[in-house]
Amino acid sequence: MSESQNKPWSGVFDGETDPRVEKFTESVSFDHRLTTQDIRGSSAHARMLAKTGVLTDRECQQIVEGLEQIGNQIAEGTFVFRQELEDIHMNIERALIDQIGDVGRKLHTGRSRNDQVSTDFRLWIRDAIDRLDDLLVDLQRAFVSRCRRDADVILPGYTHLQRAQPVLANHYWLAYCEKLERDRTRLSDCRARVNHLPLGTAALAGTTIPIDRQMVADELGFEEVVANSLDSSSDRDFAIEYCFVLTLIAEHLSTWAEEWILWSTCEFNFLTLPQAYCTGSSIMPQKINPDVLELTRGKTARVVGNLQSLLVLVKGLPLAYNRDLQEDKERVFDSAETVEACVTLAAAVVAGAELNREAIAERLERGYLDATTLMEYLIGLGIPQRTAHGIIGNLVALAMKKSVPLAELSLEEFQAASPLLDKKVYDILGVERAIEAFSSYGSTAPTEVAKQVGMWQERLGI
Ligand code: ARG
Repeated sequence: MSESQNKPWSGVFDGETDPRVEKFTESVSFDHRLTTQDIRGSSAHARMLAKTGVLTDRECQQIVEGLEQIGNQIAEGTFVFRQELEDIHMNIERALIDQIGDVGRKLHTGRSRNDQVSTDFRLWIRDAIDRLDDLLVDLQRAFVSRCRRDADVILPGYTHLQRAQPVLANHYWLAYCEKLERDRTRLSDCRARVNHLPLGTAALAGTTIPIDRQMVADELGFEEVVANSLDSSSDRDFAIEYCFVLTLIAEHLSTWAEEWILWSTCEFNFLTLPQAYCTGSSIMPQKINPDVLELTRGKTARVVGNLQSLLVLVKGLPLAYNRDLQEDKERVFDSAETVEACVTLAAAVVAGAELNREAIAERLERGYLDATTLMEYLIGLGIPQRTAHGIIGNLVALAMKKSVPLAELSLEEFQAASPLLDKKVYDILGVERAIEAFSSYGSTAPTEVAKQVGMWQERLGI
């Protein structure tokens, strides 16, 4: 008989569920994270049912107060979760019925777990997006805060990890700010699509019960009400999109981490990492390892994996709800938690690292970082770009043979390469002069970078 099994759905069943199936199908071990959202959603649903006359005001009040108490018990850790009740939603509902009696059995009127789960999950992701956005701003602040102390530092810029052209350290800090800014806009675009209310679409087809979905949307802060019940009960694209944005953030942090792992080596020696964010070796006493950076890079793998799992999960699911969709939550929770931790620690590492100015400056004239500036100087004298490229290539080859920087070639050697060159050539040679020669918008030109730094400082209130 149904009630013996203690399941809300057991009316049609005449036997017990195999305990292994209960273990296999449960989700409360992870979806308990939706507690706050479930209580918010259910309270809004109850108030709406009172407004449409399905519940009396008294019943609504009993339900809302009961839910609040259950929320407190869960927060305090005194609530006993029951695996046989499958998920957080049925655990809360059963506790409500135990607490307030038959009135609690009315809460689920006009809704299904399908739209309830999707509502709770959207609320959770919305909160997580807002939390992450704050963390991203903190990380941007960490980058921009460096601009005052590092304004005079020039770094070698790389392509193919080969020395290419010089860049200001501040140009480098702002490069990451821009990437994070795009991540923030992606989060906010994603938030707009997350922020549609599915509640009231019920199992898949809607309901015959009088409901007011707009009222629930207004109470829960949803911008729109999902227009098609079949669509919303089958859909997880909002969660996948969120995981995609998380993946791009993780990718940005991973490239940064890789770069700083290299930069903190003896070989590069560009920076010293804050020791609070490093760990040592159990055998080699001298080791100070960049583990936070390595794990930031390493954890990106699981964030990518979670996105892939979700994409494969929904592939080929017929409309509408399928139990497969329960597998979405752990992937999303894990990616959110991982990326939040990475962003938080990144801000601390960025703030605490020291650029090794002397070591950087000592080797700055290596690698012909001024060669492209010299080529552009020749172009300015009327030589076609392809011709100028060849001439400077020959000059670099000559300097390499002599193991000197370009600035140490003689005027005769420059004039042999191109008679248009005179002693003014020395005004743009050397990394510092080469930096000064830049002028285009978005370049590493000191005036342009100073404008960008000012803009960022103002934007972030630094
Ligand atoms: N815990 C499930 C989930 O997260 C609840 C949905 C169950 N719905 C159903 N029709 N059996 O997807």
